[in-house]
Amino acid sequence: MDLRVDQPHSARMYDYYLGGKDNFPADREAAEQAIAAFPNAPLAARQNRAFLVRAARYLAAEVGIRQFLDVGTGIPTSPNLHEVVQDVAPDARVVYADNDPIVPV
Ligand SMILES: C[S@@+](CC[C@H](N)C(=O)[O-])C[C@H]1O[C@@H](n2cnc3c(N)ncnc32)[C@H](O)[C@@H]1O
Repeated sequence: MDLRVDQPHSARMYDYYLGGKDNFPADREAAEQAIAAFPNAPLAARQNRAFLVRAARYLAAEVGIRQFLDVGTGIPTSPNLHEVVQDVAPDARVVYADNDPIVPV
């Protein structure tokens, strides 16, 4: 697959907002332009991620959920959903799904 790393990609821009390493100069340049218009973009991405972690941990630890379907996984980032839920429930299972071919699921 041609990843077209010379062109910005929203998933890699999101990775950049999160401080990830799976992004390229074109992604970083576009992300910085977005940040110039919306300075809270990195904060919003990190808060989105933090909510995911809190909600998933609660569902695994307090509600007893053992099967998770992560639709719109995005580029893997730490902690990934399976790391969060298996930390409190090692028997929890996660299926990742994303409609973007650059996302490895
Ligand atoms: C901003 S990322 C979110 C990543 C992660 N879920 C998070 O909260 O940090 C959104 C992801 O949703 C995926 N997506 C958007 N529409 C989708 C659809 N209809 N089916 C599956 N994945 C989808 C995109 O490809 C992208 O990877």
